[in-house]
This record gives sequence, structure tokens and C-alpha cells, in this order.
Amino acid sequence: MQVEVMLSAEDIAKRVRELGEEISRDFVDKDLVVVGILKGAVIFMSDLVREIKVPLEIDFMATSSYGASTKSSGVVQLLKDLDTAIEGRDVLVVEDIIDSGLTLSYLSQLLQSRKPASVRTAVLLDKPDRRQTDLVPDYVGFSIPDKFVIGYGLDFNHKYRELPYIGVVTE
Ligand code: IMP
Ligand code: MG
Repeated sequence: MQVEVMLSAEDIAKRVRELGEEISRDFVDKDLVVVGILKGAVIFMSDLVREIKVPLEIDFMATSSYGASTKSSGVVQLLKDLDTAIEGRDVLVVEDIIDSGLTLSYLSQLLQSRKPASVRTAVLLDKPDRRQTDLVPDYVGFSIPDKFVIGYGLDFNHKYRELPYIGVVTE
């Protein structure tokens, strides 16, 4: 497999710092719960929370879209729910990438039904070309073309999540 670097570890670190500053300003005096979507978001989330300078709690959810293809199937299944009650609190959902938008819109709706004070979304990567929903993420690291990417949490058949950069699979 050929992999070309799209975003270096330095590019990512710089942008994550900027997002952390923006989020820190927006969540002053809020009751912030950062919700990472397993497994893809773990690397981004662990870097991001260390750049957020307001008090927060972390929790996780896990979803799966059926099948092991490089395109999401469109069917979202909840594999793990929150441990934390979010009623009246300010939720920031953290995802690795928004593609069709089906995962994030499903999760946003589910979380909204629990009466939080607010639900916002942060994604490291945005592939706007493939959107099938009207969800617009509140915080976007990088907007990228419709190419399959790996690394920094993103996998191809469960592998390559540990790469410190975002790479494009070229063959
Ligand atoms: P969505 O529901 O179509 O927005 O898909 C979001 C999920 O699809 C992400 O959380 C990833 O798990 C997966 N995904 C979409 N594009 C890529 C990619 O380029 N590389 C790896 N995973 C991807
Ligand atoms: Mg994912």
C-alpha cells in the first residue's frame, strides 16, 4: 500500500492548538462534557482536550456503520453509550471525520433528546463533497477532498490508526 502524507504531525498540532483556543473561549463558565466517538476520535480527542483551558469532563460513545468498506453504509448502530448524564450540560461531540454526516447527525439527535443545554460538534477532518445531511460541524480542523485517508486515529480495516500524520492511500 502506498501512502502519501496529506497533513503532517506539525500541521495537525498547530491546528489542534487553534481549535483548543477557540473552544476554550466559547465554553467559559459552561459545564463542558467532551464526548469522543470511539475509536477514530481517540487520538484527536486526547490532543484536543489538552489544548482546552476550561474545566471539562470526558466520556465516550461508540458507533459502527455496518461493513468493512471504505465508504460508510449509511446505517448507524450504537455500540456504546455514555456513562454520564448530560441533562442541562454543554456537550461537545468529537469525531475524527465527517463524511456523509449520518453518524454525527444520528448522535446529535440522540444527545439532544436528553435535554442538554447545548450540543456542538468538532471534527478534525471534513469531506464536504459527500454530505447527505444538513449537519454543519461547529469546529473543523481541515476541509479535505473526497479521498480515503488514514492515520491520527483513522483506520483502514482496523489498521494505521497509530500513524502520527494523516495520509492518503494512493494504491
Ligand atoms: P459519516 O457517517 O459518513 O459522516 O462517516 C463518518 C465515519 O466514516 C468516520 O467516523 C470514519 O470512521 C469513517 N470514514 C469516513 N471517511 C473516512 C476516511 O477517509 N478514512 C477512514 N475512515 C473514514
Ligand atoms: Mg469513526
